[in-house]
Amino acid sequence: MIRIENLNKVYRLGGEELYALRDIHFTLEQGSFAAIVGPSGSGKSTFMNIVGCLDRATSGSYYLHHQDLIRLPDKKLSQFRNRSIGFVFQQFYLLHRLTAYENMELPLLYRGTSVKERRSKVLEMFALLGLEGKEKFYPKQLSGGQQQRVAIGRALIGEPTLLLADEPTGALDSKTGQDVMALLKKIHHEGHTVMMITHDHKLAQEAEYIYEMKDGKLTELKRR
Ligand SMILES: Nc1ncnc2c1ncn2[C@@H]1O[C@H](COP(=O)(O)OP(=O)(O)O)[C@@H](O)[C@H]1O
Ligand SMILES: [Mg+2]
Repeated sequence: MIRIENLNKVYRLGGEELYALRDIHFTLEQGSFAAIVGPSGSGKSTFMNIVGCLDRATSGSYYLHHQDLIRLPDKKLSQFRNRSIGFVFQQFYLLHRLTAYENMELPLLYRGTSVKERRSKVLEMFALLGLEGKEKFYPKQLSGGQQQRVAIGRALIGEPTLLLADEPTGALDSKTGQDVMALLKKIHHEGHTVMMITHDHKLAQEAEYIYEMKDGKLTELKRR
């Protein structure tokens, strides 16, 4: 599903060139669950942002679903991203003036989905996430783990082909982090393709594939 070859990302700072990503080769089959570990500053988020079409590589090739994303114009790239990719971040990024229900519904509103279909999809997602009864709660009234579950629901509600999570457990205590990990595994078992970045080697062990990012180089550590 994902095929990346010879991918580089170079930042030019003054006269210096900084290789944030260096000659990356990466493939991921549909329905897999990959974790990427590595120290801070090693290039994990840069890589995820490129995979998620939030940023572009400096050179190399990137195919997602046989679509050549390197040559896609900006507008087409963001359309592709909105349709195909769901994001989860460390800091949740929920809208605080909206309820949990409204946060999760938002991507469907943007798509012009009917009221009836929105309602059935959102309620189904609340059940999947174990959040029944929290529909009318505002983010501030929810625990960190519950907020992250709402954010995961928002990422999944539009049925993306790829779910990307950048340190999804980074702002949570370890027990809650394990719960979120269990939820990601459940989502994977339902057939979704998941790529997760984490500091936590123990959590990473639970993924199907583990990669390590080090100084912008990606190597495969484990294949289950
Ligand atoms: N917009 C940018 N301009 C310049 N350098 C950047 C930019 N974004 C990231 N970097 C650099 O790229 C490297 C990788 O960063 P990042 O992908 O955020 O690492 P990680 O997510 O593993 O902590 C770091 O050295 C960082 O300082
Ligand atoms: Mg990062």
